[in-house]
Amino acid sequence: MTRTPLIIDCDPGVDDAVALMLAFGSSDLELLAITAVGGNVPVVKTARNARILRQIAGREDVPVFMGADRPLRREPAGAGEFHGAEGLGDMAPFEPAAPCADGHAADAIIALVMGRPAKFVALAVLGPLTNLALALRKEPALAERLGPVAVMGGARSEGGNITASAEFNFWADPDAAAEVLATGCDVVLFGLDATHQVRATTARISALEAVGTPMAEAAASMMRFSQRVEREIVGWDAPPVHDPCPVAWLLKPDLFKLKACRIAVETESDLTRGHTAVEFREAVAGEPLRHRWARDVDADGIFDLITKAVS
Ligand code: RIB
Ligand code: CA
Repeated sequence: MTRTPLIIDCDPGVDDAVALMLAFGSSDLELLAITAVGGNVPVVKTARNARILRQIAGREDVPVFMGADRPLRREPAGAGEFHGAEGLGDMAPFEPAAPCADGHAADAIIALVMGRPAKFVALAVLGPLTNLALALRKEPALAERLGPVAVMGGARSEGGNITASAEFNFWADPDAAAEVLATGCDVVLFGLDATHQVRATTARISALEAVGTPMAEAAASMMRFSQRVEREIVGWDAPPVHDPCPVAWLLKPDLFKLKACRIAVETESDLTRGHTAVEFREAVAGEPLRHRWARDVDADGIFDLITKAVS
């Protein structure tokens, strides 16, 4: 099995943490770097959290780069109510032994991708798209050089989660999302329509806890936290686990059904900023349907991958 060279850009974040445990424990991935972006909590915390999770997984071989501390244009706004003030739910943070690598995340993405053959390196984006947008501004050739860009973000039939009409990652930095989608990047978008099918039920969390490894305990702890806060805030018993979806697709594409589309993002309105207009009709789109939208998901298959990775 050839290993997929992958960069993960994220804002840990409790569901980012589960995605990282999935990636750290999957031998089919060649993890080139983790890049941190401000989002759920400020980038100083998301970078620290990525290092904490890397240490728990024993993967200090993977460099962590710190990236943008604010969106391209909009004011920074977090989602601490869903991730805890420190970003790792109930987990008490600590200063990890291994530091961040030198240099900005955007520069690391450029160097790692441009230094390898075209379409060779995949990128998973699990937070606001600011780092990728900055990298594309600095090196436009990145768009054609990158392999698949698997992004957690957007919503269509499900409506929004941070506002009535927008999902958090696209709401937090709508300009970055619009800029990335306007380039030649091969974007596969895992919106709420897909991620709301992936629920952390008590049975699934208990099965993870039964694995008994530090990685499994960390992943289960994050889901337990989500279960509690989403029950309080949203009234859900089983919270969606969004961010493992792009990583799971890179590992096992047949867990998802995708549909070709054109995606446009609202960047101006305060009421609907970050809204994704996902058009499946080429005649209406008036341009080729260059992107892909995740629709059907095998949630059991995703949890099987997570359990295998943390065992
Ligand atoms: O809307 C869900 C997304 O926003 C996830 O990436 C979660 O981590 C938050 O960042
Ligand atoms: Ca995230």
